[in-house]
Amino acid sequence: VTTRTPLLAGNWKMNLDHLQSIAFVQKLAWSLKDANHDFDGAEVAIFPPFTDLRSVQTLISADKLPIHFGAQDVSAHDSGAYTGEISGAFLKALDCQYVIIGHSERRTLHNETDEVVNTKVLAALKHGLVPVICVGETAEDLEKHGPSAVPVAQLKAALASVTGAVDIVVAYEPVWAIGSGQAATPEQAEQVAAQLRVTLRELLGDEVAEATRVLYGGSVKSGNIAGFMREPNVDGALIGGASLDLNEFASIVRFQK
Ligand code: G3P
Repeated sequence: VTTRTPLLAGNWKMNLDHLQSIAFVQKLAWSLKDANHDFDGAEVAIFPPFTDLRSVQTLISADKLPIHFGAQDVSAHDSGAYTGEISGAFLKALDCQYVIIGHSERRTLHNETDEVVNTKVLAALKHGLVPVICVGETAEDLEKHGPSAVPVAQLKAALASVTGAVDIVVAYEPVWAIGSGQAATPEQAEQVAAQLRVTLRELLGDEVAEATRVLYGGSVKSGNIAGFMREPNVDGALIGGASLDLNEFASIVRFQK
């Protein structure tokens, strides 16, 4: 029996400006409170664009809302001449708890290599942020290498020279399932999640492997969340499109196994 608290996380990507973010967070908190959501039993997190973080922080801290938040990316550097970059220190100063690293859109559209992902993971840990490390194979990888090879290799690379009792989250997002409406099956997600946990055990030991939440992401919606959550190695979800729809996201968060 796992003691890992499920994590339901909304990656807003480049959607919702700072005013829209305030309205969304307020309504989400009301809707979950109205429904008597057990916030300790299933953690809710949102990942708004950088420009929303200050507003989200202000609202969440003023109203003491039980909603966690983080950024969608972080610089590998601490400060200096890196135009357009945002450092982990800045995110920490805005009370971010998490940061998504290595999302497939960053890997593909911004040429982020495994090495870049690794330096960002190290930067996040250095600044006391919990990295949500994204891994996942393309349809082509799946055909060529089978289900787990690429995600496992990406996780190993992301964790190079990471040691100790680190607080991390891993998100398995098959590229072919992202925004496609074609989610993996719960069995497929479980198979890879189990392999990712084996990898965590090899690299970081039993305790970290048992404590680390492995999420599934890719076309998650209210209609399919329960199936994923029934799997022993899937500890939550990273939700894109459906996290922008208040009712959908609230239903996902309140999944029933
Ligand atoms: O990070 C979450 C994401 O990539 C999945 O997107 O729209 O398929 O839920 P979506």
